[in-house]
Amino acid sequence: MCGIIGYVGEKEIVPLLIDGLKKLEYRGYDSAGICVINENGELECDKKKGGILDLENGVHDKKIKGMIGIAHTRWATHGEPNEINAHPHFDCKKEIAIVHNGIIENYSSLRELLKKEGHVFVSETDSEVVAHLIEKFYAERGDLKESVLKALKIIEGTFGLAIIHKNEKKIIAARRGSPLIIGVGEGEMFVASDVPAILNHTKKVIYLSDNEIAEITKDGYSIENLDGKLIDKKVYDIKWTINQIEKKGFKHFMLKEIFEQPEAIKNALRGRIKDNKIKLTIDLNSEDIGRIIITACGTSWHSSLVGKHFIEKITGIPVEVDYASEFRYRNPLVKPGDVVIVISQSGETADTLAALREAKSKGAKIIGIINVVGSTISREVDSGIYLHAGPEIGVASTKAFTCQITALLLIALMLKQKKSALDVTLLNELFILPEKIQEALKSSDEIRKIAEEFKDSKNFLYLGRGINFPVALEGALKLKEISYIHAEGYPAAEMKHGPIALIDENMPVVFVAPKDSTYEKILSNMEEIKARKGRIIAVTNEDDEKINRLANYVIKVPKVCDELLPIINSIPLQLFAYHLADLKGLDVDKPRNLAKSVTVE
Ligand code: AGP
Ligand code: GLU
Repeated sequence: MCGIIGYVGEKEIVPLLIDGLKKLEYRGYDSAGICVINENGELECDKKKGGILDLENGVHDKKIKGMIGIAHTRWATHGEPNEINAHPHFDCKKEIAIVHNGIIENYSSLRELLKKEGHVFVSETDSEVVAHLIEKFYAERGDLKESVLKALKIIEGTFGLAIIHKNEKKIIAARRGSPLIIGVGEGEMFVASDVPAILNHTKKVIYLSDNEIAEITKDGYSIENLDGKLIDKKVYDIKWTINQIEKKGFKHFMLKEIFEQPEAIKNALRGRIKDNKIKLTIDLNSEDIGRIIITACGTSWHSSLVGKHFIEKITGIPVEVDYASEFRYRNPLVKPGDVVIVISQSGETADTLAALREAKSKGAKIIGIINVVGSTISREVDSGIYLHAGPEIGVASTKAFTCQITALLLIALMLKQKKSALDVTLLNELFILPEKIQEALKSSDEIRKIAEEFKDSKNFLYLGRGINFPVALEGALKLKEISYIHAEGYPAAEMKHGPIALIDENMPVVFVAPKDSTYEKILSNMEEIKARKGRIIAVTNEDDEKINRLANYVIKVPKVCDELLPIINSIPLQLFAYHLADLKGLDVDKPRNLAKSVTVE
């Protein structure tokens, strides 16, 4: 949540910061602001409620020039999204500016204390307290880094911070719980929440860890822990290209990412199947595993549910799936010998990170399935698999979901091969999966027409059985997130235990109905809907006479083996949600109230 960018160097600073914010807008977009130390050595600032374009238009005429600046796109936690609450925030004398990602948990007591000492607050945010606290210590010491260090010892909660003082030619950055990177350039340096913000300028990146503070000048950087001990950090070379974070002619990132799935799956598989054997960089021995727990949030939780089905089937190892946000607080029964798989596209989700730490402290072995290389979760797992799906910018996750399922299948097969040879048919199916997805994508126009028919519906029910039940959940989540239509995912057979009461001619029902062992039962469930005048959209790999009679619309997908059904069946549901939201004229890539990576609890 929230995007931070800071720059020290000689390039034209305002366009650079605005461009960086645009690349981070998926992280938060309720307001934005910028602050530069101008040529007169004063802090010059602009803030706007709304997106980066509003800020860009406003700041354009101000002709701000300078060499040091910070900027922020906000996802409000404390205080409504308005201009006053937008970051940067300042001290009383407007000499210090800060941008903050995270939550200052003890902000109200600090605020009261500082008010008593005469500080005047203008916003309702938790963040503003940081600026005043630094001001207090600066008055004593006259040194920005020292003052920040002192403030950080008092602050409780989470932060990614970038701070400037009008009299110091540097940015101070600090992190606890919220991601922050430093971009290393030639005669210029950057600080940012995420790589896309700086990829136009440098591919050399340092990932700050918790409780580290960095001093960044035009010519270099130094990083210390909170005790003032210098830390030598690895500089990573980023492999993503700027092209990967552009829309490439698609109307939205989400649509581009849906269409990237054949390539993304290829990349997730690349080099991992050789001579009918799975080769992964994770160290797991099936004999030593008592059980597997998979923990994640949102879409990644849905892929975990799919994984449970085939991991149990393929390996015989019991698998539990838990929301990371629940797992972390319920004192879970985890013991040495348990394997905990954490799944996260961003690698920064606060709840998933906390669940990981909880499991680790109890002696479990932690395996990660992560997309963003170098992310916090990827650095804390014992070993793991990167998805290599490329950057996912659309807030609604699509390609990460199908790649996560692919990765889980690879793990299941790797565990199996320790005991017996793998099913070559399944391996071959995996190889041709990208072509099958390509085929499924051809229904995009047909699906748009169906979406047109349903765009004014107020509610939807998504039903599926067995391994396809999580697909129904995911289909419903996609629709909710981007079209703001209420949708529920349900196991098809459970419908008669309650939700069937909702069915009438105004309740469309999406069935995930592949021709597997559950097919006949699903047809019976459709009969029950039809008898109550519900309208049916069915996704199937076999348009036989029965389903054609029952469903108002049948969307056909190519045939695949059971394990891959959730992947192929997800494609039309992603497209349906996309087209419906687009037809409603909504901002598909930046749905209201959501942010791409949820780095607060
Ligand atoms: C997916 O469309 C969502 N925006 C959201 O549920 C997401 O999957 C969840 O926040 C987890 O994110 P992560 O995979 O980056 O940890
Ligand atoms: N808690 C801060 C606020 O509400 C920062 C939120 C963010 O990370 O964008 O302003």
